[in-house]
Amino acid sequence: MMQGQPDAGTVPAISLNDGHAIPQLGFGVFQIEPRDTVEATTRALEIGYRHIDTAEMYGNEQEVGRAVARSGLDRSEVFVTSKLNNGFHRPDDARTAFDETLRRLAFDYVDLFLIHWPLPTLYDGDFVSTWQTLIEFHRDGRARSIGVSNFQPHHLDRLLAETEVAPAVNQIEVHPFLTQEPLREFNRTHGIATEAWSPIARGKVVDDPVIIGVAGEVGRTPAQVVLRWHLQRGDVVFPKSVQRARVEENFALFDFTLDDSQMDRLSGLNRNERTGPDPDTFAFIPG
Ligand SMILES: NC(=O)c1ccc[n+]([C@@H]2O[C@H](COP(=O)([O-])OP(=O)(O)OC[C@H]3O[C@@H](n4cnc5c(N)ncnc54)[C@H](OP(=O)(O)O)[C@@H]3O)[C@@H](O)[C@H]2O)c1
Repeated sequence: MMQGQPDAGTVPAISLNDGHAIPQLGFGVFQIEPRDTVEATTRALEIGYRHIDTAEMYGNEQEVGRAVARSGLDRSEVFVTSKLNNGFHRPDDARTAFDETLRRLAFDYVDLFLIHWPLPTLYDGDFVSTWQTLIEFHRDGRARSIGVSNFQPHHLDRLLAETEVAPAVNQIEVHPFLTQEPLREFNRTHGIATEAWSPIARGKVVDDPVIIGVAGEVGRTPAQVVLRWHLQRGDVVFPKSVQRARVEENFALFDFTLDDSQMDRLSGLNRNERTGPDPDTFAFIPG
């Protein structure tokens, strides 16, 4: 570990509604090529990250599993999330896909398994039977926690009304240009933790003058103040980078704070601007 760098114990844990806990800061591996993923994940684990966010869709589960296995860390020390890909929502397909996820990771459980997208215009609008299948994985212990991603309140309402298990998390796009107050409030009201994907808006935050101003006030980088803003709001984040210096920068968030005015100025940048698809219309099934 580099001098002056926080260790893994510095990262707060967020309690989930099923009794498990998740490290509030992790490392995302979306758009990391499989051939680069062992190295990138290994670097993140060396720096101190103990939470990795992957998905079947990212094509790099095997490499994440390999990095965890080679790290010398006990499996129980690393929180690993994966997600059900869009083509596998029917219950039998979901069962096969989950078996494959565990096989590729070479794990006997994942810490968290999510429905990646609700796909309300596909599968006759039925994401409830998919959720019931994830409940099976939770009950048999192979998914310690289960949750959803990109679910809107009206999607969550159906899961809450029609099944016995509420999602532990809802992983949604959140950053200062898309602050998602109503959806985060809905999650909070129902005991669902919010995970913020694309937390630095895929790098766009670094050019914003207000963010640059706040960064100057606290002597940090724009990415750091935005990640700190997420942590102080109580959300879980897992920024992605393939560059060591940035992976270190994105982990060094625990020796400064933003005051209320700085938090409000970042929140005031909201313009409901997505970098990714709209969950109500997204209907993509990878070929
Ligand atoms: N559930 C979903 O539907 C969904 C969708 C999207 C993402 N996610 C998850 O969320 C994670 C993070 O989201 P994301 O990868 O889309 O976006 P992000 O973390 O907001 O941004 C990543 C981009 O910012 C750059 N970057 C990273 N750190 C930086 C820094 N300190 N300063 C300047 N630029 C920096 C990276 O480039 P370099 O790599 O070149 O440094 C990369 O281009 C993903 O990896 C994935 O795990 C989930």
